[in-house]
Amino acid sequence: MYEFVRSEGIYLYDEEDKAYIDLISGIAVNNIGHCNPDVIKAIKGQVDKYSHQMVYGEYVVHPQVELAKTLTQYLPSNLQSFYFLNSGSEAIEGAMKLVKKYTGRSKIVAMRNAYHGSTSGSLSMMSDEYYSGAFKPLLPNIYFMDYNDLDSVDTIDKSTAAVFIEPIQAEIGYLPATHEFLKAIREKCNKTGTLLVFDEIQTGIGRTGKLFAFEHYDIIPDVLVSAKALGGGMPIGAFISSSEIMKSIEDNPILGHITTFGGHPVCCAAGNAAIKYIYKHELLNSISKKEDLFRALLVHPKIKKISGIGLMLSIELDNFEEVERTMKRCIDRGVIVDWFLYNTNCLRISPPLIITKTEIQTVCKTILESLD
Ligand SMILES: Cc1ncc(COP(=O)(O)O)c(C=O)c1O
Repeated sequence: MYEFVRSEGIYLYDEEDKAYIDLISGIAVNNIGHCNPDVIKAIKGQVDKYSHQMVYGEYVVHPQVELAKTLTQYLPSNLQSFYFLNSGSEAIEGAMKLVKKYTGRSKIVAMRNAYHGSTSGSLSMMSDEYYSGAFKPLLPNIYFMDYNDLDSVDTIDKSTAAVFIEPIQAEIGYLPATHEFLKAIREKCNKTGTLLVFDEIQTGIGRTGKLFAFEHYDIIPDVLVSAKALGGGMPIGAFISSSEIMKSIEDNPILGHITTFGGHPVCCAAGNAAIKYIYKHELLNSISKKEDLFRALLVHPKIKKISGIGLMLSIELDNFEEVERTMKRCIDRGVIVDWFLYNTNCLRISPPLIITKTEIQTVCKTILESLD
């Protein structure tokens, strides 16, 4: 078992001060690296002012407003209303309630092999019985589509409240949606009055080279769900929509969704600093070049395929034994990689976005040596 006692940038350090390069950002959280000085300053500054206030709308919680203001600069006009919570799963739960309340419908369509979280509602959208079966009964009226299968778009009809989809399906091994598939879903949603919800919990906050992955497609969701890197390393989640949609959970009943710590001031301050850091250092511009470098260097007879977009890459090997052996050899050599929930033949690479060209060369050399 490894234990890390401190961290800085892309490095984690054990008790003997041996450095390990974090190639998974724990997972897709530390996008601007560990212990980022701007984030630390923001956290300390906020803790000195206040750490908690009631968040049910009675008071203005300034760090929430500041984080929302920063995000609105980079989001389209229909995604300007924010509900901050504590985690990705909770943000998905809130979004599930929002779409039902707004449409007055209860049917939800999700994708096979999606991962939306571990609470009962989010788990209901997990098609794999191995993970969800033991916790039944879960939510009724959830239907599944096959990812990137145009025929399965027929699953969406006039009784569907929403379609939940990750634009790059994460746990099957970073599989991007095709443009045609997302376009067909968007059109069917428009036709049937169904809301389109993008789960960008893992793809968001710069991971693919855009602030959110939907920007790679000519498609805008009705509801956007974010978490993980949104807090710059601190726990936070959000669902984001138009104010018209968001207003539907304001009343009848009042307090349609509440959570004591949602949008915690310290987490919002950290998140705001993290997003500002991404733009101040123009990190998004460097991501596709870094992706190209990974793809160019990771050539080996044992690598069957590399999929993903930006710094969200999956390396396909022959089988799980090969994946496990490579993971172990990598960590022994000071590089942390990981596997995927539903695709055990693939190695996960999702480093902090701040990783440099030289560091990419170093880690690729280690991965190739570990494969030999
Ligand atoms: C795409 C996606 N959705 C939802 C979640 C759940 O987020 P959390 O673990 O913060 O509850 C995750 C977490 O891995 C995720 O990757």
